[in-house]
Amino acid sequence: MLIVANWKAYVETSEKAKRLHAVAKRLAATSMHDIVIAPPAVYLGYLSIGNRTKVQFASQDLSISEGGAATGETTAVQVTSTGASYAIIGHSERRARGETDDTVSAKVERALAEGLTPIVCIGEKERDADARYLAHLRDQIAAVYGSLSPKDRARIVLAYEPIWAIGKTASEAITPVDLTEMILYIRKLLTEHLSGKASTKTRILYGGSVEPGNVRALSTSGIDGFLIGHASTDAASFGALVKAVA
Ligand code: PGA
Repeated sequence: MLIVANWKAYVETSEKAKRLHAVAKRLAATSMHDIVIAPPAVYLGYLSIGNRTKVQFASQDLSISEGGAATGETTAVQVTSTGASYAIIGHSERRARGETDDTVSAKVERALAEGLTPIVCIGEKERDADARYLAHLRDQIAAVYGSLSPKDRARIVLAYEPIWAIGKTASEAITPVDLTEMILYIRKLLTEHLSGKASTKTRILYGGSVEPGNVRALSTSGIDGFLIGHASTDAASFGALVKAVA
């Protein structure tokens, strides 16, 4: 499985970043899972430049800018140059700050152009009785895949992160049964953009209150991995969580 630790802005000192990196290195060396850490941009190069361990790195976002006069932006080339291999794109916390489907799509293109694997976040704010949230997911997926070549479409990792489940506790996360249903639905949507075989190969992650207590049950849903927020920023809970992934 692919386990991505999204540190968000929970990590605010280089000491904590180093401590969590050390934990990730130990876990990656002994686990059969792929461990990716997504530190805040200021710590990304600090940890990833010269990395010779099994831990891989992701940026938490990236700019649509191609460099030059773009104060404060972190470009895809910069992220690649640190040795990172993934970029989280379209996280709901970025979308809540004004990021649109068009911006997400442009960022995905930048990431792919520089050899990064985009981890594209999709997810509904809430569930409504008329199931409009399903159409919302279809639109989010279409916005990302629409402009890409078949080869690039096959490189995307999708992270299904229902916003109602983010930043809570395990008891409020999705149930394994509901998650299985959503994976099937997303795979069906993918057949609109990828050949049958390629659509079954796309890695789909789940994120939203994954904790040591629910990760094992969620692992049996047919998911390919997890995007983990708060539980990845405490050494003990991240260790317990990775060990519990089936
Ligand atoms: P959470 O965050 O694990 O803290 O719910 C997941 C995410 O937003 O990626």
